[in-house]
Amino acid sequence: MVKITYIGSGGEEHVVDVDAGRSVMRGAVENDVRGIIGECGGSCLCATCHVYVDPAWLDRVGAKSETEELLLEEVCDLQPNSRLSCQIDVSDALEGLRVRLPEKQV
Ligand code: FES
Repeated sequence: MVKITYIGSGGEEHVVDVDAGRSVMRGAVENDVRGIIGECGGSCLCATCHVYVDPAWLDRVGAKSETEELLLEEVCDLQPNSRLSCQIDVSDALEGLRVRLPEKQV
């Protein structure tokens, strides 16, 4: 299990244990973290799993695919650390990862 902290837009923190191999989106949805919808189930089609990755973690979460880059253009309040959480695979290397949720999805 890998500890991930999801920070709500109001600053509230939810610390969740997520199985390696799941996505950061799945970790939120399966643990009732509000603010991540994951409407397409992780197929990189909906952009309802937008998060802001803590800058200290950006180089550890892997690179964005071209598809993710294109879909991110659809989100509200795109920032340099914006990612689609369904595209981030949880691994032991992400123990302690922190992501902030946007005020609203898409
Ligand atoms: Fe649909 Fe991430 S869950 S793009």
